[in-house]
Amino acid sequence: MTASPFILETRGLTKAFGGLVAVNAVSIGFKEREAHAIIGPNGAGKSTFVNLLTGHLPPSGGEVLFKGANIAGLAAHKVTRLGIGRSYQKTNIFPSFSCFENCRLAAQSRLASSMRFFKPARSYRAVSEQAEAALTAAGLAARSGRIAGAMSYGEQRQLEIAMVLATAPDVLVLDEPLAGMGKEESELMVALLKDLARRYTLILIEHDMDAVFAIAQVLSVMVNGTLLESGPLDQIRASKAVQDAYLGDGAEAY
Ligand SMILES: Nc1ncnc2c1ncn2[C@@H]1O[C@H](COP(=O)(O)OP(=O)(O)OP(=O)(O)O)[C@@H](O)[C@H]1O
Ligand SMILES: [Mg+2]
Repeated sequence: MTASPFILETRGLTKAFGGLVAVNAVSIGFKEREAHAIIGPNGAGKSTFVNLLTGHLPPSGGEVLFKGANIAGLAAHKVTRLGIGRSYQKTNIFPSFSCFENCRLAAQSRLASSMRFFKPARSYRAVSEQAEAALTAAGLAARSGRIAGAMSYGEQRQLEIAMVLATAPDVLVLDEPLAGMGKEESELMVALLKDLARRYTLILIEHDMDAVFAIAQVLSVMVNGTLLESGPLDQIRASKAVQDAYLGDGAEAY
């Protein structure tokens, strides 16, 4: 048997909410250091799909293989510790804490168990260094001491990325990182995500097609819970099925 080309892979992943099958037998492979966007209309099942990947929802069926091991149904904090970090469609920061403190809490969630054999001072230092490095990687080095709730919306969303980075993930799962952003904020975020895509495996849910085409190498299109098509950017752009179901004439989302 040959080794899987994927760091993360779903096989027949399914989630039913009562009679509604929100994710219906979806099989997608994510390659290491590839930026892979999941697109589709509202209610297509994109967020539910990533909630299944990250342990925020238990699947009704199917597998989630991370580095070859089936992690389907594993609790979210355990998935984080394995190296899959995620941000949320809605903001998820502690507004009264500083940027640094937000990142420190995130870093601690990953490092706590691995550092338990070390003296508290040493583990404190490691967690702090990881938090600072994450702020720098997210372009927020100069904002370390700022109270998160006092920053602009765009900076708060940058902070969410920093908090994911602080967990030292292999795979970054970002659910609509551009949602609600103005033009300038979006441009900054797209530049940040392009930079991160060089170093991480990136799974990106995004409605802004300009951003998707700028960041992702591979696209998966979901419609009504099912995977319509998955492949390189050009293949998806040229796909008649995708155009009919989703992209429309002008290749615009919605
Ligand atoms: N916890 C839940 N309980 C019941 N139904 C749910 C739940 N979460 C999602 N759904 C339903 O599952 C379907 C898929 O929702 P989901 O949020 O995954 O879509 P989405 O593709 O992320 O949409 P959007 O682009 O609007 O964020 C929708 O019909 C939604 O109402
Ligand atoms: Mg969603």
